[in-house]
Amino acid sequence: MSSWTFPTESPVRNTVQVTAPIDPTELAGALRPFGESTMLPASAYTSAEVFAWEQRHFFTGSWDCLGRVEDLAAQGNQHAFNGYLVTFADKPRAFANFCRHRAHELLPTGTACDRPALVCPYHGWSYELDGALKAAPRAEISKDHFGLIELPAVDWHGWLFVNASGDAGPFSAHLGDLDRLVAPYAPERLETKVTHTYEIAANWKILAENYHECYHCPLIHPELCAVSPPTSGNNWHEMGNWVGGSMDLREHAETMSYDGKSHGVMLPNAPQKTVRYVGLFPNLLLSLHPDYVMTHRMTPVSAERTIVECSWLFDPEAVSTGYAVDFWDLVNKQDWAACESVQRGVSSPHYRPGPLAPNENAVYDWISLISRGYRTPASLRLL
Ligand code: FES
Ligand SMILES: [Fe+2]
Repeated sequence: MSSWTFPTESPVRNTVQVTAPIDPTELAGALRPFGESTMLPASAYTSAEVFAWEQRHFFTGSWDCLGRVEDLAAQGNQHAFNGYLVTFADKPRAFANFCRHRAHELLPTGTACDRPALVCPYHGWSYELDGALKAAPRAEISKDHFGLIELPAVDWHGWLFVNASGDAGPFSAHLGDLDRLVAPYAPERLETKVTHTYEIAANWKILAENYHECYHCPLIHPELCAVSPPTSGNNWHEMGNWVGGSMDLREHAETMSYDGKSHGVMLPNAPQKTVRYVGLFPNLLLSLHPDYVMTHRMTPVSAERTIVECSWLFDPEAVSTGYAVDFWDLVNKQDWAACESVQRGVSSPHYRPGPLAPNENAVYDWISLISRGYRTPASLRLL
C-alpha cells in the first residue's frame, strides 16, 4: 500500500461578512445617540432568522464562553459542542469535530468522556489530546499531515472561551481594558461552589438588557434595594466588547445578601463597598462582589428561549454559600419573570421599540454594541 500524502494544510475557511437580516430602517432607532435611541426592533427578539445569524456571527464568530475550565475538565477530558470539541490535558484546546479520515464526528455533540485519546468510532483512527494523529489502523499515512484542525481557545481567569469559526479577532482585543477591572478578584483561584440552571422564555439580549440597568430595582427587587441603592454607581466606557458599571453597597452592607453581611471569606484584593457588573459579549455576565463572584452564562436555544447557568464562585476556604446563593436566586427569579413579560410584549404585533431613560445608559451601550454588530459584524473585532 502506498503512503498517502497531503500537500499543504488548509487554513481555516474565511466567510464573507454579511449584515443581519434586519431591515436597516428598523435598526436606525437603536443606533441613534443616547437620549434619542430606542430598543431593538421586534425581529431582534423574535425572528428565527435573526437568531440563526446571531449564532453564526455573535457566538461561533466571536468568543463564546463555555464555562469554567476546572468544572468542565472534572466532567471529562473531551467535550463535544456544536461543531467542535474541547480537550483538557496540559491546557484546554479546541478542535473542529471531525475525523481527518472521512470526517465522521469524533464525539456526538453535547457529550463528554474521559479517555487517554480521541478515538473515531467509524474506522478507529485515534488522536492525542493535543490533536496530533496517534494511530490510523492498517493505513500507512503521514501522521504529520492529519492532525485535527485546531481552533482558538483561551483560558481567562479560569473561564474558557472558544472562537469556533476561527475568524474572530484576538481575544486580547475582544477584552480591551476589561482585565483591569476583573483581575483584582483573582477569579482563577476561586471555586465554583454552587450552580443553578434556569430555562427562561426570553431572548438572551432581553436578559442582558435587564442586567444592565437598575431602573427596575425599586419596583421588583426590594431585597436588593435594602443593601444597594438602585441609583448608585457609574458605568465604564473603555475599550473592548463589554459593557458594565458598578453599584455601591449601603453603609451597613459588606456584600449582596439579605442582611448585607458576608458569611464567607472576603477576597484579598477585591474592592470593598461596591459590586461590579460586567457583560462580556456575547454571553458572560460577571457580578464581582467583595467576597464572591457570580456569573450568568447565557446559552440561547431559540429566539425566545435561553438557558442561564448561574454560578457562584468563592474563596476555596469559604464554607457558607447560602447567604449569597439564596439572595441572588430570589433576585434572579424576579428578573426572569420581568424578562419573560418583556418577551411577550415584544412579541405583540403592535410592539414599537421604546425609548431609554437617562439611567439606562448601560442598556444603550449594550444595544449599540449589538446594533453595530448587526450592521457590520467585523466592527466587533475592532473594539
Ligand atoms: S472517518 Fe474517522 S476513522 Fe474513518
Ligand atoms: Fe434585576
